[in-house]
Amino acid sequence: MVVLGIETSCDETCASVLCGCDRVLSNIVSSSLSLHAPYGGVIPEIASRAHLEVIVSVVDAALKEARVAPKDIGLIGVTQGPGLIGSLLVGISFARALALAWGVPILGVNHVRSHLYASFIEKKILFPFVGLVVSGGHTSLYRVKSLSHEEIIGSTRDDAAGEAFDKVAKILGLAYPGGPVIEKLAKQGQSDAFVLKCDCGSGIDFSFSGIKTAVLYKVRDLKKVYGALKKETIADICASFQEAVVRDLVAKSIRAVHAAKAKTLAVGGGVAFNNTLRQRLASACQKEGIRFCIAPHEYCLDNAVMVASLAARLFRSKKHKGRVRLDPLTG
Ligand code: KG4
Ligand code: ZN
Repeated sequence: MVVLGIETSCDETCASVLCGCDRVLSNIVSSSLSLHAPYGGVIPEIASRAHLEVIVSVVDAALKEARVAPKDIGLIGVTQGPGLIGSLLVGISFARALALAWGVPILGVNHVRSHLYASFIEKKILFPFVGLVVSGGHTSLYRVKSLSHEEIIGSTRDDAAGEAFDKVAKILGLAYPGGPVIEKLAKQGQSDAFVLKCDCGSGIDFSFSGIKTAVLYKVRDLKKVYGALKKETIADICASFQEAVVRDLVAKSIRAVHAAKAKTLAVGGGVAFNNTLRQRLASACQKEGIRFCIAPHEYCLDNAVMVASLAARLFRSKKHKGRVRLDPLTG
């Protein structure tokens, strides 16, 4: 079955075509990031207008690149939430219109779950597994029993990890989004230059707001003494901050796998793009004898491949129970 995926939950307009749940025929992403960059974060109104402007050409490009025509599409998968309401409505309304015009079924998928299942593209899913979704909006650990059943076993009490990267970058006067910039600068810094910690006890919940405030105070104090921060100092702060976040994510993920008596750790979301996190999770899993599945780089950030893939899996397994739920408020 050929599946068209559409994703518009935040600032990227994405469309992709898959054959089944694994074979990627096209993956188109159009980002409105440059329009938001001056504000240091995504402006919902700007994002939804940008989706409206490009959605026709993005879907068209996905069909062309995949060399398929509307008559070949057997299913449309669309992100139904969570996300920015205005942005979601553009994708959902567009997908609905296509489904009606082409006479094909449509399935709404949850954005966070699609990030999670991106780790199984071209891999076999073995239930139960523990999933870590680590993005700009979410940092959660799930115990996943089946395609239709998962429970949250740990989550952030305040900021998401990606949000902390973005906020720390802002404090340091770096570009938005902060994750890629901090990762790049961290390579030039010393990760033990500053003592920074993510504190949230010995459980499997997260908290990243404290470390962000610690960076804020550190920068304020350093500026009082030395004036503007040197490049090397900024690199050291980036390295120390990244080290603390990675250490916390790795430790809690491993703890969660043991607590859930699972044998697999699956990881997805924008922060999973980070190579230090990827390497540290991989070696921790190897050491503990845990199967490790992480979304390939190209499917970590928002994309429609993960949406089409999860829609295909749900459709195939009939886990959607024949219902087409498209409700951006509940996701
Ligand atoms: O999954 P995503 O595209 O959107 C959400 O659903 O939130 O994730 C975006 C987040 C941003 O906060 C961004 O700073 C972070 O992912 N991110 C990274 C890296 N690349 C993107 N964080 C750490 N290291 C990276 N290389
Ligand atoms: Zn996302």
